Amino acid sequence: MSEYLWWKNGVVYQIYPRSFQDSNDDGIGDLQGIIQRLDYLKDLGIDAIWISPIFASPMVDFGYDVADYTAIHPMFGDMETFDRLLDEAHTRELKVILDYVPNHSSDQHAWFKESRSSRDNPKRDWYIWKNAKPDGSPPNNWESIFGGPAWTWDEATGQYYLHSFLKEQPDLNWRNPELVAAMENVLRFWLDKGVDGFRMDAVMCSVKHADFPDNPPVADDSPLKPFGFNLEPKYSQSQPELHNILHSWRKLFDSYPGDRVMIGETWVFDMDVLASYYGKNLDEFHLPYNFMATMLPWDANALRDLIQRYYAAIPAGGTPNFVFGNHDVHRPATRHGYRNHRSIGLLLLTLWGVPTMYYGDELGMEDGEIPVEFIQDPWGKDDPDLNLGRDPERTPMQWDDSANAGFTAGGVTPWLPVASNYKTLNAAAQIRDERSTLNFYRKLLQLRKTSPALHGGSFEFVDGLPDDIIAYLRENGDEKLLCLVNFSNQEYAVNISHVAAAGSLLISTDLSDPGEVDMNLFTVVANQGYVIKV
Ligand code: GLC
Ligand code: CA
Repeated sequence: MSEYLWWKNGVVYQIYPRSFQDSNDDGIGDLQGIIQRLDYLKDLGIDAIWISPIFASPMVDFGYDVADYTAIHPMFGDMETFDRLLDEAHTRELKVILDYVPNHSSDQHAWFKESRSSRDNPKRDWYIWKNAKPDGSPPNNWESIFGGPAWTWDEATGQYYLHSFLKEQPDLNWRNPELVAAMENVLRFWLDKGVDGFRMDAVMCSVKHADFPDNPPVADDSPLKPFGFNLEPKYSQSQPELHNILHSWRKLFDSYPGDRVMIGETWVFDMDVLASYYGKNLDEFHLPYNFMATMLPWDANALRDLIQRYYAAIPAGGTPNFVFGNHDVHRPATRHGYRNHRSIGLLLLTLWGVPTMYYGDELGMEDGEIPVEFIQDPWGKDDPDLNLGRDPERTPMQWDDSANAGFTAGGVTPWLPVASNYKTLNAAAQIRDERSTLNFYRKLLQLRKTSPALHGGSFEFVDGLPDDIIAYLRENGDEKLLCLVNFSNQEYAVNISHVAAAGSLLISTDLSDPGEVDMNLFTVVANQGYVIKV
């Protein structure tokens, strides 16, 4: 049996720190809160936690606007608390992944303050400054991913600066060697502490075309259209020179003892571009995140097609991965209907590749309701009509049925309202209920960990079943598992004897009793999924 490598065979769990657990009753989650919940995470059965940014920040984009890459925001705690968190996690054999935001800093970062102070400041070139066109308009047509132009005029020094996101998030200039070195020191700082890896934010934006040409308009059938983009990011994202930077980071990671891991927030729409982020010799990202499933409707044919194209595109030796939910997209249980939320979990944890879970998905948490006056997300405030606000998927973790769901003390106003279903949908209630979603996840995570077929086996689709059912075999040595998910509201009785003459149910989404199944007439209940040993 091959060795179990945490990043290749394990499961990553994303913590959005503001929303996980508040320990000092200010209504905002913090590092001490995460420490308090490490036993819960250990019992759940995951291998690693990735914590969204915890660094000094004015919080305009809730930490994705970093004002000091090597300082902890006091709201989250201090360095001593972070060191303790790292230690406590490692004691429990949990790896810790931090967020690295290379594309931009906060406009409150000391580097940007210097850069904007004058045209001949030594840090001027650490950011991207350009002259206006003769008519005073921005240097090109690039648009911010959050809407509006990507350029903001600086009156004092008479130039525009570039920001792929908010104007408070100026883009760093990765063509400046001093900046490259300074940002590498940031990685060293945390790797020296023993951090196990980084998830690299908006990484495809980091290097721009040297000449800053206009971007072409998006095609009508472009997958970018629903996101409100008007332009194809042809010259502003995924430029060839980015790969040199990624390769140098990877060399740095590989120079450290242990298995340090580079994960890319590679939010791209083209399979070949996604595959390119593994690097020509698998020498860039270990895991370039695959977000494509978050953009699909709940449709077996669509997902089957995606899986096929994805596995075919991954370079030999590359490890695939799946993301169904995170802090930027609506909750899977909301997108695909609550009745399908466990099937999403079954797919995530049994497909070939590393799963990344999002906090609360193990309870079946749904989008919270955010009254307009509570909107926090700048994307939600700027663009209310497009339904792009990300607050609904960031509501506090639902721990128990006490006021504020155990996230913060009763009487405190949490930074985002707790979802209204917390009285019945919460971790404490689900721990007591043997057939809860949480117990489904725990059992399935346990099965995955002990099953070489699931965490490291081959993958093959099974044909001959109704279109609504995705079926595949995972196999390793003499262990062979058949996974089935019914995407429809309709029950099917199927003959699966072409797969094997006999089989026994290991787990199903409804946690029905394990045992022998009739392979000639197997009932696939509406909206349910199964793992059968054959
Ligand atoms: C990434 C983050 C998102 C953030 C953006 C800008 O997409 O996941 O939350 O707003 O980058 O940093
Ligand atoms: Ca707090």
